[in-house]
Amino acid sequence: MRMIFVAGARPNFVKIAPLMRAVAEYPDVEAILVHTGQHYDQAMSDSFFSDLEIRQPDVNLNVGSASHAVQTAEVMKRFEPVLEKYLPDVVVVVGDVNSTIACALTAAKLGIRVAHVEAGLRSFDAAMPEEINRVLTDRISDFLFTTEISGEENLRKEGVAAEKIFPVGNVMVDSLLRFLEKASNSDILTRLKISSSGVGYALVTLHRPVNVDDPVGLRRLFGAINVIAGSIPVIFPVHPRTQSQIAKHGIKVAAGVRLIEPQGYLDFLYLMSKARLVLTDSGGLQEETTVLRVPCLTLRENTERPITITVGTNSLVGSDPEKIIEYARQILAGHARKGRIPDQWDGRAAERIVATLYRKLKGESEVLQAQEGDAVEATPKTA
Ligand code: UD1
Repeated sequence: MRMIFVAGARPNFVKIAPLMRAVAEYPDVEAILVHTGQHYDQAMSDSFFSDLEIRQPDVNLNVGSASHAVQTAEVMKRFEPVLEKYLPDVVVVVGDVNSTIACALTAAKLGIRVAHVEAGLRSFDAAMPEEINRVLTDRISDFLFTTEISGEENLRKEGVAAEKIFPVGNVMVDSLLRFLEKASNSDILTRLKISSSGVGYALVTLHRPVNVDDPVGLRRLFGAINVIAGSIPVIFPVHPRTQSQIAKHGIKVAAGVRLIEPQGYLDFLYLMSKARLVLTDSGGLQEETTVLRVPCLTLRENTERPITITVGTNSLVGSDPEKIIEYARQILAGHARKGRIPDQWDGRAAERIVATLYRKLKGESEVLQAQEGDAVEATPKTA
């Protein structure tokens, strides 16, 4: 049996790591790791491979940065010959980035089955490129692995057959639980000369085009962050997209806001686990803070991960500076929800995914062999 696993951008690496580890337990499965190269530099890619102990990819498509159309098309063009060479039984894609839809679409067009990990999440905001990627990937997937109840519900409403939907938990949480202890050896707080005791610090990330591409909106968000920095030091690892916008538009950054390079997985996990408060527009951070029980303010108008609000520590505050400042003030005054960890976010999602794929694909090949008659004899029967 042969499975291709695809990873392209930073959050994908966190999700692919436990899958590669789980599939290694199956000696009769050949696992091929394909890196599309959507993210490519040390901080956005290489450091994740070493921190998360992911082996070198078997194939790197080296697509790099480009417009959505060019990036998606390049991935498809370069992935097709890989599929023709390896002829896998299934292509496993994760998350909602351009590499996800590009590889799913290429496989589906060649009649190769697609498994989507993190299926069914919906922000219902078609202006978000990831929403388009999510809807389209699910539409052409054969195995849809969901992380939360809303995922299952959305897929059912869209008419996806129940037998294609598998609630398995959250692979991002698999990585978090596996690496939390190792992350606690990080010396990032010392290097930044900050402390988690006393007033502590707030951690900020922003990279969504809707927040950072428009200078007026970005300036408003920094207005709120600058005010919060008057009460608590703010650490802000800056995504390259955001960095270029801050520089281009000369956005004012208060002295209490420390802009730092994007961090590796372990350092960032430690920073997040010790923060008093996280402000973000990332999808993954909403989930990770829920598991770490750190209060999270999501600076967006919607979320595709509602369980982090109903069950976890997340609050959706949008982009209104007054509201952001007020919510932050409440948390710093000690009024934060503790939340609880959603069902099946237990560190074993990847095991469930690989076991399901193995069982399904193995079952099919045995049925095929049975249909071919004499091949049945070749399958040893175990007691
Ligand atoms: C992509 C994903 C987004 C995900 C995010 C995580 C899509 C549509 N978006 O957005 O869902 O949350 O990754 O980071 O797939 N750059 C570098 N080094 C790199 C990669 C990018 O400097 O290794 C710079 C380039 O200038 C590039 C910009 O960052 O133009 C944006 O990268 P891109 O992959 O296009 O989108 P992200 O904003 O990272």
